[in-house]
Amino acid sequence: MKLKIIPEHIAIIMDGNGRWAEEHGKERIYGHQNGVEAVRSAIEGAGEAGVKFLTLYAFSTENWNRPKDEVDALMRLLVSAIQNDLDNLMTNQVRLQAIGNISQLPEVCQKELNDAMEKTKENSGLTVILALSYSGRWEIMNAVKRLISNNITENDVNENSFSMFLNTKNIPDPDILIRTGREYRISNFLLWQIAYTELFFSELLWPDFRKEHLFDIIKEYQTRQRRFGKTGKQIKEEN
Ligand code: FPP
Repeated sequence: MKLKIIPEHIAIIMDGNGRWAEEHGKERIYGHQNGVEAVRSAIEGAGEAGVKFLTLYAFSTENWNRPKDEVDALMRLLVSAIQNDLDNLMTNQVRLQAIGNISQLPEVCQKELNDAMEKTKENSGLTVILALSYSGRWEIMNAVKRLISNNITENDVNENSFSMFLNTKNIPDPDILIRTGREYRISNFLLWQIAYTELFFSELLWPDFRKEHLFDIIKEYQTRQRRFGKTGKQIKEEN
């Protein structure tokens, strides 16, 4: 019997916290607080399923334009989530990494994040990558700037060499991208990396998302045929 393929990398756009809070008659931050429980469950589920990388869009470049109260609360939540869950990450051999313009985060966030990344760097299980102050266009533009400042010449630029200048170097492209929250767009997330990623849109608002929903998506992924531009006949012949 052929074993079902486990996706190596899942990326998630965690959307709908604000609406979830509104539906519960509360302030937006209440939705973000409950979103942390969904983050825990998704990490647990990805680990159990044998996924190697889980990238979470926790704060976009554009999110800096939200009201200051909400931005401050999100930053505090990030710090408290890392503090509360670090032991748990260690027990479960989870390695924490980050992508994005981390130097823009408040110093206390940077410190907490750097300490947690340092402490978990030798862990051998799931790698959780937090996208913070991240946007795909920012990442690509930054890669171009670094190519120029490293005097890389035209002949040396190809897809492989270019991807080494992205924040995600050495991380495989996502097999699955999930967006919750009843919106159907990419919102500047991993623009380069999702060229051949399978897209899934969940009608759930993020705080209601649990590992069972992740498992359902993985099962549906296993029924899809990934072609990478080839014909169905070619794929059949390869298998
Ligand atoms: C989108 O919902 C969610 C965010 C901008 C922040 C995501 C943050 C968390 C889930 C909590 C902290 C994360 C970690 C990793 C500890 P929205 O506010 O855009 O919702 P809306 O579309 O309903 O307004």
